[in-house]
Amino acid sequence: MADKYAVIGNPVAHSRSPEIHAAFARETGQDIAYGRILAPLDGFAAAVRAFREEGGRGLNVTLPFKHEAWNLVDRHSPLAMDARAVNTIEFREGSMRGHNTDGIGLVRDLVANLRFAVGGRRVLLMGAGGATYGVLEPLLREHPRELIVANRTFDKARALVAHFANVRGVATRSISARPYGELPGASFDLVLNATSAGLRNEMPPLPQDVFAPGALAYDMVYGRDTPFLRFARERGARTADGLGMLVEQAAESFYIWRRRRPSTAPVIAALRAKTQA
Ligand code: ATR
Repeated sequence: MADKYAVIGNPVAHSRSPEIHAAFARETGQDIAYGRILAPLDGFAAAVRAFREEGGRGLNVTLPFKHEAWNLVDRHSPLAMDARAVNTIEFREGSMRGHNTDGIGLVRDLVANLRFAVGGRRVLLMGAGGATYGVLEPLLREHPRELIVANRTFDKARALVAHFANVRGVATRSISARPYGELPGASFDLVLNATSAGLRNEMPPLPQDVFAPGALAYDMVYGRDTPFLRFARERGARTADGLGMLVEQAAESFYIWRRRRPSTAPVIAALRAKTQA
């Protein structure tokens, strides 16, 4: 019988994870069945336990349960521990292990797919919610020259920076929090949107001159042309949405579960073709 995996969230019907993992399994010759679980908002832990009792081997966790998953698992990878969020659960040897592959996925998309080296660059990261917590440590490990976190609610950006200042082994000196109102005059090589603004067709209040020449604007939302991406294009920046990150974080989850590294480029290309159809 095929090993069982699933993505759990609420809502979950829109998730592309089943088709991504099915493609990885075909390519690497792995016998897996990957489904979707819609958990009630107050029933995440029960749904995880039920899946485990049915013999499930692993889960991807999506909104709004990543922090609850962090509380639920009995062991954490170092990245998941610091991110305070879990997007991948592995059921192994009687334990529930929590991982976070979002930041690795983002960095792989930037560095390997988009050929954008983060090292030595000036980076602006917008948002201070769960999405930012998930990606911050792998970004810092690339050694940007500076990484500024801007957030509408400035206290949340300050708390986030304080949290990561306690993480060992990362270049915490390069990170600081700044309100949007203090950005004018500064320009960045990489501007990352980790806010949920694009989902409501909004964008954070960026100054006109935020992009340095040759800058990359990256929106972690995928499959839609957000106001932020349009703003960036109009100012001559290169743009990317979060589709590559989605596939790369899935590949890292697949590796954790199956110890096989699938090719991601054909899967990204196939999804891209579908979203543009
Ligand atoms: P998630 O866990 O998905 O990151 P979240 O914790 O609700 O979700 O965080 C959403 C982020 O998007 C927050 O940083 C939020 O800013 P606030 O902390 O000030 O709420 C940011 N955000 C959402 N809509 C925004 C908008 N229109 N302009 C700027 N920031 C926005």
